[in-house]
Amino acid sequence: MKHLLSTAGLAREDAITILDTAAQMATTQSREIKKLPTLRGRTVVNLFFEDSTRTRISFETAAKRLSADVINFSAKGSSVSKGESLKDTALTLQAMGADAVVCRHQASGAPHLLAHAGWLDSAVVNAGDGTHQHPTQALLDAYTMRRHLAGPPGSGPDDAAALGADLAGRRVAIVGDVLHSRVARSNVHLLHTLGAEVTLVAPPTLLPVGVESWPCEVSYHLDESLREGAPDAIMMLRVQRERMSGAGAGAFFPNPLEYTRKYGLDGRRLALLPEHAIVMHPGPMNRGLEISAEAADSPRAVIVEQVANGVAVRMAVLYLLLSGRDAPGAPDPSEGSVLA
Ligand code: CP
Repeated sequence: MKHLLSTAGLAREDAITILDTAAQMATTQSREIKKLPTLRGRTVVNLFFEDSTRTRISFETAAKRLSADVINFSAKGSSVSKGESLKDTALTLQAMGADAVVCRHQASGAPHLLAHAGWLDSAVVNAGDGTHQHPTQALLDAYTMRRHLAGPPGSGPDDAAALGADLAGRRVAIVGDVLHSRVARSNVHLLHTLGAEVTLVAPPTLLPVGVESWPCEVSYHLDESLREGAPDAIMMLRVQRERMSGAGAGAFFPNPLEYTRKYGLDGRRLALLPEHAIVMHPGPMNRGLEISAEAADSPRAVIVEQVANGVAVRMAVLYLLLSGRDAPGAPDPSEGSVLA
């Protein structure tokens, strides 16, 4: 694996390797000294053209825990605001000796262009591009589901039996603004690869053209999906009002109250879920719109844990992409295994 751009083409064995490596990385993070020498001498650039809290902070934390040098580049305040192109920005990063470029961009396909245009020698990780893909989010979501759902009935988080198992037969409902969600796209493909059964639940106006060809079921009715589908995990999606700027949210649903009434997760709907089911949200949340405070703060919610798991998953991705590369400053095997 040279880049991580999408979950659509991610082989099952590669996905499992990332998830297993993340589990091992997580064990190193409970040690007193969390820092590993693995990527010493490597440079990771966080190239963010779009706002982020969780993804940027967790990639920075992950790279630093692996002893890489980290450069944070935000389009705001950079020469991008003077009209500098993606190509010239990439050539600048190449001149700085970036080994990995973690790219978030408002345009779908921008990380793919960075990876394949020949401007960079570095590994490229897609940290979210337009409405297209957010592969590390899907991986951290799968990692979180694995911890809670992959073991035999009654096993808890971190049960040894759960690690290494997959999500075959587990039912996942992904609810809300699928149309604008790179998280939904990434999760549908990865969860299908891992054997889970996914149902997208959304109003017809918030489903993309061609969704019938995705490897999942589609429903317009949340209550029915909860009662009859008995999901093991429910993933609420943020209503992305900033991507509805042309026509406004009114073009997609009558008003926020009506959206919440039909597609919001609240205490009443929580009670329809199986007892073991977990509640997920990639963040940031619109509390009171797609999810109530009662649901977001309930003991079933694993939303904060998703964020924590993001560090281990991103450590695994950077380690797998960079540790095998034959480049100046490559990790010295005499320093021991990262996972020892
Ligand atoms: N889930 C996610 O991508 O959050 P940020 O936009 O804060 O990075």
